[in-house]
Amino acid sequence: MHRKEIEKDYLKKINELKKYDEAYFKKDSPIISDKDYDICKQKIIELEKKYKYLDHKDSPSQKVGYEASNKFKKVKHLKPMLSLSNAFEKEDMKVFLSKIGNFLNIKDLNIEFSSEPKIDGISATLIYEDGLLIRGLSRGDGVIGEDILQNLKTIENIPKKISGNNIPKILEIRGEIYIGKKDFETIKDNFANPRNAAGGSLRQKDPKETAKIPLKYFAYGFGVIQPMIFKTQSEFISKIKQWGFLTNPYNQVVKNLEEIEKQHKLIEEIRSTLDYDIDGLVYKVNNLELQSRLGSTSNSPRWATAYKFSSEKATTKILDIIIQVGRTGAITPVAKVEPVTVGGVVVSNATLHNEDEIKRKDIRIGDIITIQRAGDVIPQVVSVDKLKRNKNSIKYIFPEKCLCGSKTKKEISTSTNKEDAVRRCTRGYECSFTAREKLKHIVSKEAFNIEGLGKKVIDQFWDLKLIRIPSDIFKLNYRTIDKLEGWGPLSIKNLKNAIDKAKTISLNRFIYSIGIRHIGQENAKILSGFFKSVDKFSLLFSKTKRKELLSNLSDLDGIGSTQAQSIENFFLNIKNIEVVKSLIEVLKIEDFKNLNKKGKFSNKNLMFTGGFEKISRSEAKALAEDNGGKVLGTISKKLDMLVVGASKPTKRKIDKAKELKIKVIHEKDWYKLLNI
Ligand code: IVH
Repeated sequence: MHRKEIEKDYLKKINELKKYDEAYFKKDSPIISDKDYDICKQKIIELEKKYKYLDHKDSPSQKVGYEASNKFKKVKHLKPMLSLSNAFEKEDMKVFLSKIGNFLNIKDLNIEFSSEPKIDGISATLIYEDGLLIRGLSRGDGVIGEDILQNLKTIENIPKKISGNNIPKILEIRGEIYIGKKDFETIKDNFANPRNAAGGSLRQKDPKETAKIPLKYFAYGFGVIQPMIFKTQSEFISKIKQWGFLTNPYNQVVKNLEEIEKQHKLIEEIRSTLDYDIDGLVYKVNNLELQSRLGSTSNSPRWATAYKFSSEKATTKILDIIIQVGRTGAITPVAKVEPVTVGGVVVSNATLHNEDEIKRKDIRIGDIITIQRAGDVIPQVVSVDKLKRNKNSIKYIFPEKCLCGSKTKKEISTSTNKEDAVRRCTRGYECSFTAREKLKHIVSKEAFNIEGLGKKVIDQFWDLKLIRIPSDIFKLNYRTIDKLEGWGPLSIKNLKNAIDKAKTISLNRFIYSIGIRHIGQENAKILSGFFKSVDKFSLLFSKTKRKELLSNLSDLDGIGSTQAQSIENFFLNIKNIEVVKSLIEVLKIEDFKNLNKKGKFSNKNLMFTGGFEKISRSEAKALAEDNGGKVLGTISKKLDMLVVGASKPTKRKIDKAKELKIKVIHEKDWYKLLNI
């Protein structure tokens, strides 16, 4: 059966089940026997097991009861629950270590790391006040979680009360809920995998249902602790173990890349003997003071990474090579392969990266290839078995046109002056393939974060011509959706709520969402600090004003000529201006909020010159920003303070600053200002 048909069949079954659920739970009058109900449920789960790409929020593998997820109170986390960056091989770990060394300005990095198995479960945070468990939240979107305390309380190895000496007044423990592999055996008919089972069971409306499933909890970290009594991660782990939390017996302190590798191999060897799924090891800087100096980027801490286990490989055949168009117009070739299981997941697509990669490996349709899958990323082609190649096979010729029919271009990079490896369609919203992907970006978690409006729904709405540009999302005709297969009153209500909620958005998220190339989350933040309001940002629509703004923009540390050029290119396209304007009309965009108004450098522009002795430039920048300041990259009258590092400062800059009567301050005195 073709994928489309399988998906249709799957959706049909999900809808049937929804009807049965509604009759049973809402109207209290079942329309099907228990036995037939179970058969329907089972069929859905079997399909999910067979075709790993099937996934639906209403699947019985994702929820155990009815409407479970909406029943929990939403609560803001005391501190965001971030995710982790990934490493897949020794080289990635080397980069992780050197980034830390650079940030902390330590030449020969010789620090400890806590190495911990990465449990493949569901994270939850527990808050204890004076030793008493008072709150338990799911991760949610990382900022807002769901109050699942009653369900968490049913888990045996979560202490409800801790005693001992020195227990902090507020103690927030973070950890992973999981189901043991043996325990999973007894319930496996109802779920696709242990992780889904744990998730489903945790979201039960009735804690008694949760209690029926044998959940366990590994504690691995903390959120807020007041007063802070720990100096290292390993000390924290051993103390909470004494307090009665289950900690992983394979946690270990390691000191360098060699020890990291050794520990990695060791745990990988025993992986299959463990009673829980792990997908790698987490490496955390052990010293908590260094952790706090390192801080986080938008999504993940700089002090930790998840080093995944080596990827799994498999051999298969290329059935076809197609091209896909990304949201930036990038044309990516994808190999359609004979379905093959790699690491427990059925794979039928593998990325071929770009035209050069196909040429270099001389990849052809009909070839027998080895593919590998690492983490959640899309599988890649490792090698081609040329001995098995059919004599009649022909070289693959990369199409020069986009799927929309227009010519593609390879750009010249402004920084290296070299031709880009990636071909792009440059028509933006005028190319329907690019536009569709842009819409998927707009609704994604980091952008508008519209729950219930995932990639598949965007595809569905696009095919029905319900949406073409972002503002259409906020003007949806729900009466039309009501008639569609797969949509009922409840899912429409949820979608409407999620879209209404998304109408209010911060300026930085908005800037990130509109999808200007080279403007990621960090740059969007810098830009939002610069523009402060959407009105000021809208001045970019005017060609003359844009010129002036862009020249000012390059003063900002982090925004270079590549970014400025990219903003210019974006707004040169009139359709983009139209799209952004109509989006602004339907939204409430919040002005930039300086989170640290009382900070030492609040509303001040700073600049650094010369190398610092104690810290790196990145840390200095982070410190300035944490204290409310903005860091510029060039000297102008706007500057309030030039901070001069001890090593090779630029004399010209100091002279210019003095000439403009800007405060010049030396590294050591700057630390004093910050009390560090
Ligand atoms: S530390 C700032 N340690 O992995 C994030 N996470 O991909 C700190 N996980 O959301 C997380 N075992 O649910 C950490 N020993 C461990 C972990 C672990 C599993 C999960 C956790 C987190 C996810 C990040």
